[in-house]
Amino acid sequence: MTTRVLVAYATKHGATGELAEWIGSELRAAGLEVDVWPAKQCADIGAYDLVVLGSAVYMFRWQSEALDFAKRFERELAARPTWFFSSGPTGGTPDADLKLAELIRRQPSPPGEAGRLARRIGIRGHATFAGRVGEDMTGLFERWLPRGDWRDHGAVGAWSRSIADRATRSVVPA
Ligand SMILES: Cc1cc2nc3c(=O)[nH]c(=O)nc-3n(C[C@H](O)[C@H](O)[C@H](O)COP(=O)(O)O)c2cc1C
Repeated sequence: MTTRVLVAYATKHGATGELAEWIGSELRAAGLEVDVWPAKQCADIGAYDLVVLGSAVYMFRWQSEALDFAKRFERELAARPTWFFSSGPTGGTPDADLKLAELIRRQPSPPGEAGRLARRIGIRGHATFAGRVGEDMTGLFERWLPRGDWRDHGAVGAWSRSIADRATRSVVPA
């Protein structure tokens, strides 16, 4: 039987949505059946065997749509293998480049409330991926950040394959 996967995400400027699509493509390539949806559009997750939930991080917080998703479906998520990812750190100055490298190496827990929800749900794992600051980021705090795209297709692919490995192994009888 094919494992059905939901990749749900919350994004403000699109970069995290693309990371979710990369994850979806990699899981599909591994033979899983995958839907990729904005978290706020998910009304029911009962049809899925496994869920990956990700959010862009702004001011040390997940986007409210991803937090709402985790709260709405807390019971269902606790009952199936669930992974989280956070998309955030960016570089562009020597100091930011160092912090970015350190965060990617250290792989912290999900920030704040997302971390508390992750513990309650009992997620299988969490990844922090580097993000993007695009030309469209012109808000009060946004315009001061160095522009660039630090997203790492290889890192996202490797993490997705590790999920697919565990998902496909778990349906093979011992
Ligand atoms: C105002 C602002 C605040 C941010 N705060 C954080 C933060 O606290 N932690 C973090 O890792 N990244 C932070 N970022 C980086 C964003 O998470 C990054 O640009 C991300 O790729 C945006 O994703 P999105 O395009 O899906 O919205 C911030 C970016 C902006 C513009």
